Amino acid sequence: MLKNEKVKIAFIGDIVGRPGRKIIKENLTKLKELHGIDFVIANGENASHGFGLTVKNANELFNCGIDLITGGNHSWDKKKDMIALLESKPVLRPDNYPQEVPGSGVLVNEINGIKLAVINLMGLYTMPQVLNPFTHVLDIVEHLEKENIKHIFIDFHAEVTAEKRILMQMLKGRVSAICGTHTHVGTDDQEITDGTYYVTDVGMTGCRDNVIGMESDIPIKKALTGLGGHFNVPNNCKSIMQIVIIEMDQDGKSVNGFKIKLYDNKKEVISNSIIN
Ligand SMILES: [Fe+2]
Repeated sequence: MLKNEKVKIAFIGDIVGRPGRKIIKENLTKLKELHGIDFVIANGENASHGFGLTVKNANELFNCGIDLITGGNHSWDKKKDMIALLESKPVLRPDNYPQEVPGSGVLVNEINGIKLAVINLMGLYTMPQVLNPFTHVLDIVEHLEKENIKHIFIDFHAEVTAEKRILMQMLKGRVSAICGTHTHVGTDDQEITDGTYYVTDVGMTGCRDNVIGMESDIPIKKALTGLGGHFNVPNNCKSIMQIVIIEMDQDGKSVNGFKIKLYDNKKEVISNSIIN
């Protein structure tokens, strides 16, 4: 990479089912061209009918221009497929699962001569029991710093906003970007502080006219009666694609970051970060 050259990466929030995959297929190639995106990361733990990720759907997403897929609490819903993907493809699961769990949550990628480390972590509250993400990530970042890797991206898959803010306050100035996932609802708090881009949650890519990507009838019944059922991703819906685009300098500092919300009617809403 030449001096002063920048790298531009994109991150797509939780892809939910076929409608999520469809809107990506229709739009990602032209977004990459338009914005000069070098590398695309996406959270894919809900990409196969809302629960997990199959080999077939992962390949579909790679063919759309996604370079790396992260996961979360639903990573194991299609367990056999996930283990195959973790062994053979750029697919991550949260790194703070215990060591005996298959796969990894850290991958260093080469992009135009620079090394970009992607870290996938999971929060604690309402999540499966995992290792403390905060102590765990400090070890990872320290190791990457020793390797002189300056471009570091984190997908923090967590329910609680405060856990995400804690991670940001802990690591600002040391990593390039921290993007939250899991709640499926995008937050309006993009900032760049000491060269670290941060957003509490990117928001999902999928159906937007129901309950966080799922048909509303079962969640409503559950709320009213306490009785559950199988959640379904609708076949027809109003959809949304939510993608953040982050530009990093040669030292791994984020210098620009914005988010695009792209609706099925082609309406686009762009929001920018405040730079602190
Ligand atoms: Fe999740």
